Amino acid sequence: MPDHFFRVPGDFIRPGTLTAGGLQAQRDRFAADPEHYWRGLGDSLDWIHEYSQVKDVSFDRADFRIRWFYDGVLNVSANCIDRHLRTRADQTAIIFEGDDPGVSQHITYAQLSEAVNKRANLLKAHGVKKGDRVTIYMPMVPEAAYFMLACARVGAVHSVVFGGFSPDSIAGRILDCQSDIVITANEGLRGGKTIPLKANVDLALLQCPNVRHVLVVEHTPAHYLTHDGRDISVPKALESMSADCPPEPMNAEDPLFILYTSGSTGKPKGVLHTTAGYLAWAAYTHQTVFDYQDGDVYWCTADIGWVTGHSYVLYGPLANGGTTLMFEGVPNYPTVSRFWQVIDKHQVNIFYTAPTAIRALMRDGEAPVKASSRASLRLLGSVGEPINPEAWLWYHKVVGDSRCPIVDTWWQTETGGILISPVPGATPLKPGSATQPLPGVQPCLVDAEGKVLDGATEGNLCLTDSWPGQMRTVFGDHARFLETYFSTYPGMYFTGDGCRRDEDGYYWITGRVDDVLNVSGHRLGTAEVESALVAHSDVTEAAVVGYPHDIKGQGIWCYVTLKQGVEGTDALKVELRNWVRQEIGPIASPDVIQFAPGLPKTRSGKIMRRILRKIAEGDTSNLGDISTLADPSVVADLIEGAKGLG
Ligand code: WT7
Repeated sequence: MPDHFFRVPGDFIRPGTLTAGGLQAQRDRFAADPEHYWRGLGDSLDWIHEYSQVKDVSFDRADFRIRWFYDGVLNVSANCIDRHLRTRADQTAIIFEGDDPGVSQHITYAQLSEAVNKRANLLKAHGVKKGDRVTIYMPMVPEAAYFMLACARVGAVHSVVFGGFSPDSIAGRILDCQSDIVITANEGLRGGKTIPLKANVDLALLQCPNVRHVLVVEHTPAHYLTHDGRDISVPKALESMSADCPPEPMNAEDPLFILYTSGSTGKPKGVLHTTAGYLAWAAYTHQTVFDYQDGDVYWCTADIGWVTGHSYVLYGPLANGGTTLMFEGVPNYPTVSRFWQVIDKHQVNIFYTAPTAIRALMRDGEAPVKASSRASLRLLGSVGEPINPEAWLWYHKVVGDSRCPIVDTWWQTETGGILISPVPGATPLKPGSATQPLPGVQPCLVDAEGKVLDGATEGNLCLTDSWPGQMRTVFGDHARFLETYFSTYPGMYFTGDGCRRDEDGYYWITGRVDDVLNVSGHRLGTAEVESALVAHSDVTEAAVVGYPHDIKGQGIWCYVTLKQGVEGTDALKVELRNWVRQEIGPIASPDVIQFAPGLPKTRSGKIMRRILRKIAEGDTSNLGDISTLADPSVVADLIEGAKGLG
């Protein structure tokens, strides 16, 4: 085996750890009898009525369908709670670590059960029924988990909106899924600052007359404005709720949640996940990729507002009867040692975070890490964007004391769970590679014409067949679902990512090949930022591209054409930056604003982003053919204007 592999240390293996032999046996079982293999996943769930049908899939647009375990009946909250009560009632399900290092709490499965049942009854008392959409806009606190599970218990479909999104973004999501109940908190806390969640909801609801009730969790002592008849204090309303709410029997293919995510065009799409396949895949991957075993303390730092929070803070760990840590705060508050202090405080064994956090912490050097023990750690994980080998090596050497394997997990909101990743006791690692597909996952690389490429090669990453955790549709717009994912390469799911496969069959994700940005692991459409910019009265046109950024992975570079007579001042740059933050949220904050009197356009008026990307990257030696531009002279002006900006 070539020496660039990192072999997993022998003492990583415990009884029950999936080793190379075990992993190969799973692959062999899948190859020999896929249906039987998938049954293994379905059978890991607790069913109200057993399923008999395993899989019914066609990616052919004329005859499209994706159904898994589809005649079975079950309930997700019963799988995450009730079935564990017999053996684990007193085991910790959730460890809460507050923004304030003095605040933490252990919630047992018995306590989780009581909390979720009461909130399920609260939802019912306010008219929430099976199939209704419920918007959740919450800080990273156990109440967010309770309410997600309460929705699942009554069969309601939750749509969690990340707490960093603006009132406009919340409103757009509420209206798109016609949700008439919103759950929020008076305030959130992050890095010692308060986040005015309820006030943001109040602003959003000016645009949403359909919303009947806002349930308000009182997370801080701060007072909040109450709209009579509409707003309900959760602690008060819970006083009269019973702790017994039988789980609603759900078909395997009933919707579990909607999560909005950015695409290359238009407004964010409501990615819809269903019940059985999603949960089976979240549970299987959480167990396999993290070698999760009884008693392990597992911490995924993602916010519950992203899919990583759904699958790997909540559903996967709880379906496996695990102990999952929820952290309200940020990596650098009160100090840049916070992550490592939390690991020591709660004896965390498995730690899963994003490359952007690792790169930011790297800047502060080894000392803040070395000030902690981290002896409890056995496995590290990475997700959200390609991890550069330098960050991988630092994570491995400094955080993991050269002892802990790293699982670099590739997946997407759409995939529900991890698809390409090492299995830590089995897969030799290469820094920067997500290594190999999990058993049952069938990736392929295709060229621009859709020709499937074999062997060591580079191309667009597709999946030729389904897996249980795959999204089923775009809420309210099935045509958009088919168009976005199944039309570029007919018969295949197109991920939007570029990828290289090396001579060992290892996959190296190279990043998005569409107009989707990945800023600090957060997904943003260039079109969204552009439409926010042009909504400003001084702007006539805007083109947004990503460029390499040391910490964020990608930064946001905005070329902005101002209205005639408007002067491009620094003050206007500040105003536009704040404008975008206000329209979308702080995650969309432009890094560079370049005033551009003209944009490079073809004679038919199409903006040539390829050129804009090159200029933002500072790579102007080879701009390709610019002779087709309506006005080639704008390019030289833009190159000149870009100097010193990035
Ligand atoms: C996009 C999906 C689902 C995890 C959170 C992000 C990029 C994700 C990796 C990785 C390289 C990665 C891809 C993907 N991505 N994980 N390990 N290596 N790239 O979910 O917001 O739906 O974004 O994130 O570009 O398409 P998301």
